[in-house]
Amino acid sequence: MIRTHTCGQLRSDQIAQEVTLCGWVDSYRDHGGGIFIDLRDRYGKTQIVFGPESGAENHELARTLRSEFVISVTGTVAPRPEGTVNPRLATGEIEVRPTRLEILNKSLTPPFQPGGKELPNEDLRLKYRYLDLRRPEMQNTILLRHQIISGMRKYCNELDFVDVETPMLGRSTPEGARDYLVPSRVHNGKFFALPQSPQLYKQILMIAGYDRYVQVARCFRDEDLRADRQPEFTQLDLEMSFVDSSDIIGLIDGLVARLAREVLGQEVKLPLPRMTYDEAMERFGHDAPDLRFGMELVDISDLAREAEFRVFRATVDEGGRVRGINAKGAAAAYSRKGIDELTSYVTQDFGAKGLAWFKVEEGRTLASPIAKNFTPAMLEKIAERMDAAPGDLLLFVADRFEVTCKALYALRKRLGEALKLYDPATMNFSWIVEFPMFAWDEENGCWGAMHHPFTAPRPQDVALLSSDPGKCRAQAYDLVINGTEAGGGTIRIHDPQVQQQVFGLLGITPEQARERFGFLLDALAYGAPPHGGIALGIDRWVMLFGRLDNIRDCIAFPKTQKATDLMTEAPGAVDAKQLRELGIQIRGADGR
Ligand code: AMO
Ligand code: AMP
Repeated sequence: MIRTHTCGQLRSDQIAQEVTLCGWVDSYRDHGGGIFIDLRDRYGKTQIVFGPESGAENHELARTLRSEFVISVTGTVAPRPEGTVNPRLATGEIEVRPTRLEILNKSLTPPFQPGGKELPNEDLRLKYRYLDLRRPEMQNTILLRHQIISGMRKYCNELDFVDVETPMLGRSTPEGARDYLVPSRVHNGKFFALPQSPQLYKQILMIAGYDRYVQVARCFRDEDLRADRQPEFTQLDLEMSFVDSSDIIGLIDGLVARLAREVLGQEVKLPLPRMTYDEAMERFGHDAPDLRFGMELVDISDLAREAEFRVFRATVDEGGRVRGINAKGAAAAYSRKGIDELTSYVTQDFGAKGLAWFKVEEGRTLASPIAKNFTPAMLEKIAERMDAAPGDLLLFVADRFEVTCKALYALRKRLGEALKLYDPATMNFSWIVEFPMFAWDEENGCWGAMHHPFTAPRPQDVALLSSDPGKCRAQAYDLVINGTEAGGGTIRIHDPQVQQQVFGLLGITPEQARERFGFLLDALAYGAPPHGGIALGIDRWVMLFGRLDNIRDCIAFPKTQKATDLMTEAPGAVDAKQLRELGIQIRGADGR
């Protein structure tokens, strides 16, 4: 090594020792008498002071140093003079007085200072990712990611999981997103699909007798991006044979507790709470509810049916629901204008037709422009159902069940944040279980798989596949952390006949099933053990454990919101020759 210590290592114990440090010039100050450098590497920062004793030559050279130059300094560790100790820096008690300076490499003036306090513009950060990755915040996140992944690997190793790699070039896997396709040169006109997940391979590995499979797997999904979605992301992908839902859930419970302890220093009580999908939709309007705070959805449909207010009564008469939330103590915080904003939020973004509201006054009277449409007795009943107290703000949406879910879920989330109903430092882990097998696909007029087509129904629901598929519940489970889906899995169908039946319900004809998944159907016929598994979204775990709001900050080389890489400028054009070899012709934007 051309260094003796890292920039985060020296303490008073090393005073008077001769050391060599290497790193980047984080900051440079010339105070006439001395030149002060903060030298940075991924371990920390050390102050280097070129005083008169460093010699004229070193001094001269030190004057030429600029931000992000890479240097090597040999010198003596010295205590910092009285009053200049920096208690916020691990190396803050000492400084290095150099006897030798070597510039290992110069740097152009960086477009932003990696050591600076201000967060640079994101496009610049992504274009100059190597500079951005030098920022201590990014380095901490990348190290956190490493810690989480190695913790996951270690845990699975202890439990006899076998790490198996599965192909990137394969056939389309049905996770419900669009595929990234790779054209075949050898077979013109044919395409590989990058895996949306290793789903089918891991099932095949169970049929092949591997019993416990694990992979830190890359997945590719061409879908609309959001703060918690990337086109290319990483899963901790697991599959096990001879298990039921509780086995998988219990296994992940153990992993959650271990990582919460190791990474966050928090003790998590096990088993993690489990809630059915139906209960989650009733109480929170969503299948990944944020359980760090209350403000649950309350149903008043039975009261609304009797109410004089036409909007409420008509909705219930037409089979809809009236549900609301009580924003405790929030009446004063929301003026008419504030409530108008909430109204346009739920109507414009979430399809609600309106937002009915009441402010709770002294004596628990409900005040609102619509109050005149209700009898005092009815208002009292509503107040009681909503557990209203003076100062509360009650908000209601009357609509189809799905719309009340969407609108009130969004409203609860927004108010929870605005009213600071939870401590952002707390972590909440829970399971949502027993998802429906199918969701009705309005667009295509058929059932769609809620998870994926290989998910097994609950044993007691198999008969519902023929009689009432909408009621059929799956052996499915999602892990939710702070209101984000952090993992999901299911017990799989291992009976070829049930698999055919489910394909049928999904509108996949036997011919299509054969063409797309023939290999799986064949494999299922050669002694498939009962099996199931789960995949955890590692990027999201990093985001949640690191308390970050953006998935791009959790990935060394992420894509932008528009699915491009600003550093390499991918995707890029290719040569005409390459296209010819692939038998591909590019049409203009006008489609010709
Ligand atoms: P699923 O599609 O639910 O299941 O994905 C599992 C987990 O992966 C994460 N995730 C994502 N993270 C970042 N960007 C994305 N675009 C993205 N999409 C999903 C989520 C999610 O919970 N094969 C099944 C698993 C199984 O059944 O075993 C699957 O992929 O945290
Ligand atoms: P309207 O009778 O349409 O003037 O509505 C009176 C009040 O009821 C307004 O404050 C609307 O925002 C609210 N409102 C209208 N439709 C609904 C609905 N479907 N759910 C909740 N509130 C509504």
